[in-house]
Amino acid sequence: MTKNNTKLPNGSKAPAFLQMMQWIVNPLSMMSECAKRYGDIFTLCLGEKYAPVVFVSNPIALQEILTGDSTKQFSAPGEQNGIFEPLVGKYSLMTLSGVQHQRQRQLLTPPFHGERMRSYTQVISDITEEVMGELQIGKSFSVRDITQGITLRTIIKAVFGLYDDKRAKTLEGFLNAMVNNSSSLGGVIMLYFPVLQKDWGAWSLWGKHLRRTEQIDQLIYQEIESRRQEQADLSRTDILSLLMSARDEAGESMTDQELRDELLTLLIAGQETTATALAWALYWIHKLPVVQEKLLQEIDSLGQDIDATAINKLPYLNAVCCETLRIYPVGMLTFPRVVETPVNLCGYDLEPGTILYGNIYLTHHREDLYPEPHMFKPERFLARQFSPYEFLPFGGGVRRCIGAAFAMFEMKVALVKILSECSLALTDNRDVKAGRRGLVTAPASPIKMVVTGKRISSTTSSVDKEASNFSINKL
Ligand code: HEM
Repeated sequence: MTKNNTKLPNGSKAPAFLQMMQWIVNPLSMMSECAKRYGDIFTLCLGEKYAPVVFVSNPIALQEILTGDSTKQFSAPGEQNGIFEPLVGKYSLMTLSGVQHQRQRQLLTPPFHGERMRSYTQVISDITEEVMGELQIGKSFSVRDITQGITLRTIIKAVFGLYDDKRAKTLEGFLNAMVNNSSSLGGVIMLYFPVLQKDWGAWSLWGKHLRRTEQIDQLIYQEIESRRQEQADLSRTDILSLLMSARDEAGESMTDQELRDELLTLLIAGQETTATALAWALYWIHKLPVVQEKLLQEIDSLGQDIDATAINKLPYLNAVCCETLRIYPVGMLTFPRVVETPVNLCGYDLEPGTILYGNIYLTHHREDLYPEPHMFKPERFLARQFSPYEFLPFGGGVRRCIGAAFAMFEMKVALVKILSECSLALTDNRDVKAGRRGLVTAPASPIKMVVTGKRISSTTSSVDKEASNFSINKL
């Protein structure tokens, strides 16, 4: 790396307000244009009060940042994630810093890994069957709605365990509305411009958000209260029970506000992202017949049982999921990291206080790592192993996504269930591109599909296309 002693890397010269608007409306093309013009590192004015922030898509620099984000060199302060606060509160894993953040991570990581995670195989499979069962053969549906149904019901079950159906359904409805509200263009503008976060009444955008949040809070607090009333049930493994039994060094348990913020974080972060990834996977699989055929062959090799270990071992399924998260990563960027002591990155001397973002989208579109980066090619993940700084859909370092393993697992189980039981088709062959949805990315236009029949054996030609007018759960 050569040194040029500039304080901040080059970047857009457009007025800061215009940069912000372009970032809100069209972030992916903005980043691609900047990468063409400025390379692996550039500056945009998108921070609080249009402060400059530096985007990095060089794997060596990313390794330096993400392996050093809990050292004296860099930090990952929760205050920098203030944009999430109106959604998840100030005691969320996303907004906490330092020791408190570390402690909450230690508590929340195990339920989404290992045996605990694998115990969700049947739950995910049953919920997928239930959601797919609501579809009618021959009637088109929005893929995102279906995948959101799967991931939302799954995370509600993981968070609350055995959960009263009526309450779960009400919560599902409110959460869906909250996420959809904050994902609209108006909702995003409000998140980026806190000055607009004013309650102008029940019909205003922010007013709706506040009222919806109140309804969700009420349900969560009721659930916490009714758990308190119950006798401690040691057999419960859901996350609420786990959090309620946790004690800090002083023997104190979490307050209701802390519990609420953490639960809401998981309910929101745990469904939106995976729902989008699953929707993209279904799109690519049905867009590209070769991919579909190879995947069906591999899934058929499983036989009747949906077994967690066997599913996790399927190489092509894994490659399809990785390529899905590479080509349109749901999280465009890592959370911000801050320079703590002077550092040279990609030839630039950066001062303490400089805000850095790992640019996941641009790293995943580097020609040197991923030739023909705009083509969907799962084979890349079979041909070589990428480092955690070349392929990083879940970020890295001290804030690496705690749901990474769970999200991959959920995608795989749901895909195996859907593909092995029903035959789907896209309603048209047009290309769908990615665009902003809230603070993440998603298909820019709805992906529509139709159930064409049930699958009765290994190949697509054996799909029973005669079967009609019945729902999938009757298969
Ligand atoms: C395909 C699905 C998902 C994607 C692409 C994704 C992506 C990400 C990314 C990029 C980050 C920031 C990491 C960083 O700054 O280094 C993150 C953080 C986080 N994710 Fe995910 N995520 C997904 C699913 C999930 C699930 C299923 C859960 C919960 C069960 C979850 C919970 C979280 C939490 C709590 C954080 C904050 C971690 C912290 O601040 O310490 N995510 N995720």
